[in-house]
Amino acid sequence: MEDRPREPDALVDTLVRWYDGHARDLPWRASSASPWAVLVSELMLQQTPVARVLPVYAAWLDRWPTPASLAAEAPGEAVRAWGRLGYPRRALRLHAASVAITERYGGRVPSDVAELRALPGVGDYTAAAVAVFAFGRRHAVLDTNVRRVLARLVRGEELPPASVTRAERDLAERLLPPDEPTAVTWSIALMELGALRCRASAPRCDDCPVRDRCAWRAAGYPAYAGPPRRVQQWAGTDRQCRGRLLAIVREAEGSVPLERLAQAWTEEEQRERCLRSLLDDGLLVTSGDRVALP
Ligand code: ADE
Repeated sequence: MEDRPREPDALVDTLVRWYDGHARDLPWRASSASPWAVLVSELMLQQTPVARVLPVYAAWLDRWPTPASLAAEAPGEAVRAWGRLGYPRRALRLHAASVAITERYGGRVPSDVAELRALPGVGDYTAAAVAVFAFGRRHAVLDTNVRRVLARLVRGEELPPASVTRAERDLAERLLPPDEPTAVTWSIALMELGALRCRASAPRCDDCPVRDRCAWRAAGYPAYAGPPRRVQQWAGTDRQCRGRLLAIVREAEGSVPLERLAQAWTEEEQRERCLRSLLDDGLLVTSGDRVALP
């Protein structure tokens, strides 16, 4: 019992040392990455694998190295540059965030979590991630990888609940090392452990630096016993249809005749529904019988 208070420190040391030796060299983690670059990366990385983000991220920052440079363009340019990353409303939100940063903060990304949280498209996770990774602040960063690591390591469960709970937040806050620089490395190390070792399927427990402290392993790897989880479908879905329609316009020079969209998707009712939703979302605009990026 007597060394109980030292437990968290040993865990922090182990994980931080592992991170130093194993972390991927990713451009948004470079010390030269600006707060804007970090914000761009975090929006792109939501629900999207690193390998797909890398080329789009590089081209985006070449073209728009500052929030003001993006804010000066039409939102449709952001949608075009988003390319095939998916969930294209993120492009519009990033553009809207660039406008807000330019208008409210003179083009400088704010460092305060509440100010970040008030930007378009910036939720709890992204606000904390930018405050931590761009400004070195001490906050719990709860993305899917971190939540899974904490569920296994501390709670002994295979997967976290479907959405973030108060208990998860409290646990993550409680585990945060007291000093800022260590808290930053701890947060990114948890995330990296989730990406490289404590993966959702096929976890690499044999290679895990904290396997001897893992509650899930100690319990014999019990399978997830919570309510069924939604699996993302793709083929035949509205999401696929929307992607096809948007790609036709994105890859055209200017506007395209509405009838061209029929080539992208044969099922008419679904095509019409998806076109309406793209127009409602502001990802496309019509003028007469032509359609264009906003
Ligand atoms: N580094 C910082 N944030 C990250 C993220 N969301 N995914 C991968 N690496 C990251």
